[in-house]
Amino acid sequence: MTQRLFFDCDTGIDDSVALLYLLARADVDLLGIASTAGNVPVDVVTTNNLSWLELCGRAEIPVHVGSATPLVADLMTTEDTHGPLGVGHAELPTPTITASHVDAADAWIEASRAHDGELVGLVTGPLTSLATAVRRDPALPSRMRRLVIMGGAFHTHGNTTPTSEWNVAVDPEAAAEVFAAFGTAGAPEPIVCALDLTEQVVMTPDHVVRLAAASGSTPLECPDPGDERGLRSVADNEIIRHLTDALRFYFEFHHDHDEGYIAHLHDPFAAMVALNPDLVTTIPARVGVELTGTLTRGMTVADERWMSPLGPNARIATATDLDSVFDDLIETIGTYARALVRI
Ligand code: BDR
Ligand code: CA
Repeated sequence: MTQRLFFDCDTGIDDSVALLYLLARADVDLLGIASTAGNVPVDVVTTNNLSWLELCGRAEIPVHVGSATPLVADLMTTEDTHGPLGVGHAELPTPTITASHVDAADAWIEASRAHDGELVGLVTGPLTSLATAVRRDPALPSRMRRLVIMGGAFHTHGNTTPTSEWNVAVDPEAAAEVFAAFGTAGAPEPIVCALDLTEQVVMTPDHVVRLAAASGSTPLECPDPGDERGLRSVADNEIIRHLTDALRFYFEFHHDHDEGYIAHLHDPFAAMVALNPDLVTTIPARVGVELTGTLTRGMTVADERWMSPLGPNARIATATDLDSVFDDLIETIGTYARALVRI
């Protein structure tokens, strides 16, 4: 059955992989993409989204530009994590297509009205655009079928401050407003893919080799910590070449932060959950966001034991089958990249 999906992202290396996975899935009707400021400024996010769509021959999918800044906070970006242009060492072709005149928040609203009760939302960036949409149209959550959010850190360290995860840390007010809005009657409880689980989705160089092999790309390249920094791929498949350049940067970043020559694939995992919630075990919880703590601003706090009289407003993903995740990711994107060559 076709799933109608709206994708909100801050592209971003792992957002890029998520986008390719969504494009590769024949059962997804990707209604539109919201560009939200986060990993890189919103105009760079937009350029990346347009570039990937054009490369994949999907120029008809609209890209909607979000606010240049979070709701309250100053924007922070993280080029050290995702590269100067958000796609690691990759140099995507400059897109010839342009963004929609409908902004990201209005696009959320339009998608939910056009597909009332059917829409699957996926957010892999800060929640600025979705929170803005809910401010403009408070009934939006009640029209959605499902919402999956990559964000938060519950029983693990943060990746931005000791207690906060990037997507929430960039715009804590937006995250707080979204969790509050989706906790009301008639609105689905978002499935939250937090660092507790997404940091277990560990990509290794061997996965890059498997991906290239699945696409038929040659030569097969295995990024290695001993390689010269920023070594460029010469893969003959264009999608694999750009992905390898992007992922090499992500490996280097994680390596520099003593996590090993690996990459956490937070966002592709959330995309898979959006399409198949049965991929994860979840627990109900009341999730809130700390907005005022001097040390803990941006921290996601989960009441999992009903200490508050308020009921759950989210389901936190706690476990998955990691081998299946990588098998599916590699097979789906690899097969897609192979087919694109023939277009
Ligand atoms: C999240 O932060 C971003 O840098 C990634 O794209 C991902 O969405 C992980 O904390
Ligand atoms: Ca992201």
